[in-house]
Amino acid sequence: MSNRLNVKPNDLRAFWMPFTANRQFKQAPRMLVSAKDMHYTSDDGRKILDGTAGLWCVNAGHCRPKITEAIQTQAAELDYAPAFQMGHPIVFELANRLVDVAPEGLEHVFFTNSGSESVETALKIALAYHRARGDGSRFRLVGRERGYHGVNFGGISVGGIVANRKMFGTLLTGVDHLPHTHLPQKNAFTRGEPEHGADLADELERIVALHDASTVAAVIVEPVAGSTGVLIPPKGYLKRLREICDKHGILLIFDEVITGFGRLGTPFGSDYFGIVPDIMITAKGVTNGVIPMGAVFVKKEIHDAFMQGPEHLIEFFHGYTYSGNPIASAAALATLDTYKEEGLLTRGAELAPYWEDALHALKDAPHVIDVRNIGLVGAIELEPLAGQPTKRAFSAFVKAFEKGCLIRTTGDIIALSPPLIVEKGQIDELVDCVRTVLGEVE
Ligand SMILES: Cc1ncc(COP(=O)(O)O)c(C=O)c1O
Repeated sequence: MSNRLNVKPNDLRAFWMPFTANRQFKQAPRMLVSAKDMHYTSDDGRKILDGTAGLWCVNAGHCRPKITEAIQTQAAELDYAPAFQMGHPIVFELANRLVDVAPEGLEHVFFTNSGSESVETALKIALAYHRARGDGSRFRLVGRERGYHGVNFGGISVGGIVANRKMFGTLLTGVDHLPHTHLPQKNAFTRGEPEHGADLADELERIVALHDASTVAAVIVEPVAGSTGVLIPPKGYLKRLREICDKHGILLIFDEVITGFGRLGTPFGSDYFGIVPDIMITAKGVTNGVIPMGAVFVKKEIHDAFMQGPEHLIEFFHGYTYSGNPIASAAALATLDTYKEEGLLTRGAELAPYWEDALHALKDAPHVIDVRNIGLVGAIELEPLAGQPTKRAFSAFVKAFEKGCLIRTTGDIIALSPPLIVEKGQIDELVDCVRTVLGEVE
């Protein structure tokens, strides 16, 4: 038990909290002081069931012994080593182990420290790849409405969440967007992949026709859009995107920061949908969220296109001080061991039917206008409170926390994504909690 229990910080002003209603929080703080497996403990000693795997990242549950021990041992043995023009064995071992679990064909890994950095890295690789092949007129990037690709400038440019973009000027130029695939009139209360909307992928043909294929470098999408409220791709949609990209020589980038490492019941979203992208972005689950790390996977042809010119020259002018940091690498290796020993990269598939039934039982709960699910992800969309969008869901979040459940809300959508070690009884507890709070919110 943490010795910080019941010790409340007496001044919350200095910390400008990310993606937080700072003033609301500081009036009524929600403080977590320790965690174990499926639960957090709050500063008033309450157990909080983690319905969101932290921020979609603690896939193996909290404070797992192997990961903790690996970090402790590595910190005492080799704390830091540069990865520029130097190496340390553990990061090479990690890259190989990651390639082993990755979809076929993704054979090289570039390390970063977050999902946002992985996104920037992937976009830069895509642009530089075309240029390295003498096809430098391909400078355009295509994202999607409601896409979330982190918060850096490349990511918000290809991303499609208005609030994340509108304050920040002109962003990257040469970016276009596919329409989002959320069609509640046709697909509400779908279990798994929706029937309607595959044709929305054909919008890529329109964008290509507008700009000419020779100017388009890459298309980036989340296989399942998470942060915008769990938008599951319509049946056949991703396959169609893959076909159109292939037809026009455009790279397809999957942002698997959420769908990676077992969330859909397969190791990656790519495995779930049977579509291999040219570049795959990951972070979060790579270290079980414990230490910042991201990993960008690329196909051999992409990597090899850079490996030319004099051998003493740097092939790709990109990297971070902490790319492949030894402690993060050790945490990631121990995470992969834990996933393997406990079958967590596929456990979601066993639980998915139970999860689906439990979530869809909320169909008749107050304010619910849609329920959707895939793997161990679910969303419950609420009718917004008249004139006060997001308020109803936010109240549900606050009330759920008071009742001992951590849920996540985005807009008027409740998104659920528990650690992959969740038990059926805990799924029931989570869903009961949501039902209770929906009965209490305005
Ligand atoms: C699909 C996707 N891409 C990128 C990111 C950004 O990751 P980070 O917050 O680690 O920068 C997220 C975070 O939720 C994400 O869901």
